[in-house]
Order: sequence, then C-alpha cells, then structure tokens
Amino acid sequence: MEIIIQPTVEEMSKTAARVVARVLNTKPNAVLGLATGSTPLGLYQELVRMHREDGLDFSQVTTFNLDEYVGLKKNHPQSYHYFMHENLFKHINIPKENIHIPMGTTDNYAAFCQWYEQRIVQCGGIDLQVLGIGADGHIAFNEPASSLGSRTRIKTLARQTIDDNARFFSKPEEVPIYAITMGVGTIMEAQKIILLANGTKKAAAVAAAIEGPVTGMITASALQLHRDVMFIVDQEAAADLKMREYYQWIQAKMPDAP
Ligand code: PGA
Repeated sequence: MEIIIQPTVEEMSKTAARVVARVLNTKPNAVLGLATGSTPLGLYQELVRMHREDGLDFSQVTTFNLDEYVGLKKNHPQSYHYFMHENLFKHINIPKENIHIPMGTTDNYAAFCQWYEQRIVQCGGIDLQVLGIGADGHIAFNEPASSLGSRTRIKTLARQTIDDNARFFSKPEEVPIYAITMGVGTIMEAQKIILLANGTKKAAAVAAAIEGPVTGMITASALQLHRDVMFIVDQEAAADLKMREYYQWIQAKMPDAP
C-alpha cells in the first residue's frame, strides 16, 4: 500500500486529482469508479479546474458510481445522481451515456444490481476507483459485517451512517435506510484504488483500515489485499497511525527510489 499524508485537505484533493489525470493521460478512455460524500468534493473541483484550464478531456471516459440511496429519484437534491451532476458531470465533457450510477428507484433491484455488475465487465472493468471511508470503516455502503466477497446489492445502512448522513436532510426520518452499493468484491476488482480521508473523525477508521487486521467489520481493511492501493489522507485523518513517521519517511524518499 502507498500511504500519502498531506498537510491539508486541499493538498489531499490535488494529489488525488493528479492521480486521476495521470490515468486519463495514459488511457483517455479509462473507466473511473467514483464516490460521493464530502471527501471527494475538492477532488472534483480540481478535476473541473483541470478540465477548464488544462484541457483535461473526459470525452471518452466512462464512470461507475459506488452507490445510491434506495427510494430517492434522480432529481432528489440528496440523491447521488444529483450530487454527481452538480459537483462534476455538468462541468466536464463526459458523454451522458457513459455515466453509470445505481438507480435508486427501480421495480427490480436484484436484476438492476446484476446488470450493473455485468455493465462494469462489458466496459472493460474499472481502471481507477476513488473511495472515501466512513467513520465505521466502510467503503461505499459496505457496512460492518459485510462480506469481503460481496457484489452490488441492497444494504441496510448502519445507525452511525444514517446519523452521519442526517446532516444533509431536513428531518432525520427522511434519511434513507437502504442503499444499492457495489460490493467489496466489486471494488477489489478495480485495477487501481485511491482512498481519500480527511479530518479527525476518520482517524480511527483510517488506522484500523491500514494497520488493523483484515476484517469484514472494517470493510476498508480489505484493501490490504489489493495490489495497487493508495491512501491519500490529511494530517488529521493520519493522526492515529502508529507507523505514521515511517509512511512519511517513505514519502520523502520516494522521489529518489530506484
Ligand atoms: P464523507 O463520507 O466523505 O461524507 O465523510 C464518506 C463515506 O461514508 O464513505
């Protein structure tokens, strides 16, 4: 695993954007796995800036989002469809038909989940997956005790996730209880993964994911089994890492590595 500790959340976002840009420059028709939430907002702002100012091209890019709330229509302001459109897609030149986000409203969720998995394969698999991490160590909506081999499916959200997300809804009872989410197994098939985390609230989850045992209780810990994963975190999210100085030493020595 590569662990990059940046002084600020802005630097975290810029580092992540450089990784995305490098993938797109190497493979203009790359398939990106995308995340929602507050963590990737700075990354998306930076990608929009790179598109406008540096000509970063999304015309051949395909995207798959990790998850969506069950029951929210595409135009609901808290839906992840709405989030992605507002924060990224409407500002870049990605063709609409190349965007995939799980459907929050469908009459056959099982069939939809199966189609989503097949569609990822049809598009050649995910080249770069962007992840955040929940305070309970989840990736996407793979809550504690999710199978590490899980595929796209409906999950019942944990109390902590519902409480964490309540800030976005006008009433706590409006927060959806179910979501469609890619599974841990789906995520693990991405060629390359970057996980972003910032703030003290994520420090325990980041430490457990990187330094704890691989366990379905912290689904981000499954990333220890991935061959190309990069954690990009700010100082606050890195605070509980026991080997923090070692990771910073590696980071400092990286440019001169043979
Ligand atoms: P956040 O959510 O970026 O809003 O903190 C991350 C997550 O729950 O995966």
